Amino acid sequence: MPGFEIIGKEEKLELNSIFKKGSVLFRHGFDSKRKGSYKVKQFENNFKNKFKSKYSLAVTSGTSALRVALATLDLKKDDEVITQVFTFVATVEAIVESKAKPIITEIDETLNMDPNDLLKKITKKTKAVIVVHMLGVPASLDKIKKICNQKKICLIEDTAWGCGGKFKNKYLGTWGQMGTFSFDFAKNITTGEGGMILFKNKNDYEKAAAWHDHGHENNPKKPRWEDTRKSSGFNFRMNELQGAVGIAQLKKLNYIINKHRKNRDDIWKVISKNKGISQRKILKGSFDTADALIIKLKDKNLAIKLRKELLRFKISTKILPEAYTWHFASTWTHINELKKKYKNLNKCFQVSKKIIEKCVSIPIFLNMNKNLIKNIDLAIKNALSLK
Ligand SMILES: Cc1ncc(COP(=O)(O)O)c(C=O)c1O
Repeated sequence: MPGFEIIGKEEKLELNSIFKKGSVLFRHGFDSKRKGSYKVKQFENNFKNKFKSKYSLAVTSGTSALRVALATLDLKKDDEVITQVFTFVATVEAIVESKAKPIITEIDETLNMDPNDLLKKITKKTKAVIVVHMLGVPASLDKIKKICNQKKICLIEDTAWGCGGKFKNKYLGTWGQMGTFSFDFAKNITTGEGGMILFKNKNDYEKAAAWHDHGHENNPKKPRWEDTRKSSGFNFRMNELQGAVGIAQLKKLNYIINKHRKNRDDIWKVISKNKGISQRKILKGSFDTADALIIKLKDKNLAIKLRKELLRFKISTKILPEAYTWHFASTWTHINELKKKYKNLNKCFQVSKKIIEKCVSIPIFLNMNKNLIKNIDLAIKNALSLK
């Protein structure tokens, strides 16, 4: 699974260098004390260069990345922001916190946003679409981007999963007007907690940079305490410790993704010999990050049975089926804004529910136990009563 498996001397060296150069943990100021060490700035620059993007802003989490990205749109009470039913609760929380109305689409067999349903959900009030590359597999970006362009709606990619993945040779997170990333402890690179936003437009970047920092414009002609501002904001600044770890982790991203993909393929090579299972749909042109291997079964009962069998072999699953209620919007009856919009919320999105219920998601780790493949295979044989 994630970058946490290979936190090592590279991260420690980056961290130590902060303490050798004045121990400044704040991203701004203290210029004479820090002897040229600006870890967050360096992480932002390295990140945008790797992803061939123009502007980047590091923040405190993937959730705050979404919130800050939405802040650039000046959303009003009746504005609508569309996202998909299968995502983490954070995507909808960010919309609600931005005072906009969350509108939800069904997913298709990619387990990501169904572009046909997106078309049906767009209204005059739609201001943005947040497409999510759930568990590292690209959504139908070409179709969704075309729709957003035609309707002149802002496209934001929630790339909490899929950092370093590509679709048609272009990095995930760089197709939309903005792309958000998460570096929480379960992601393929981690800074403990942390996030990043990539921007196409200078104006969006400048608005976001100010908003995530109480409105500070970081005017080079002014000391910080006299800084200029045009709007209020909040504090979602990344600190230097996170920036330092991010610099080291980013250098490991290619290795992590290639190893994930190899491990996923090695597992699939063996278990695909069992009749009655398939993988989630991965679109042609996808370079997915293989954070998980999603096994599709014939029905919900078999999925539950497989999870039980996997647990007997001490193999955990990831999100599906056990953490489904954190990742499926019709179960979020605690979010009033969703309840208001969708009467009988828990009965909505049956098309997507039927797709998700049949799936079991196996986390992919960098370091695989040598018996893992054999045990997954046995668990499948037991669950499907194959011998
Ligand atoms: C799709 C999605 N969006 C946003 C987030 C939020 O990221 P963070 O945990 O860094 O706040 C997550 C976290 O798992 C996620 O899965």
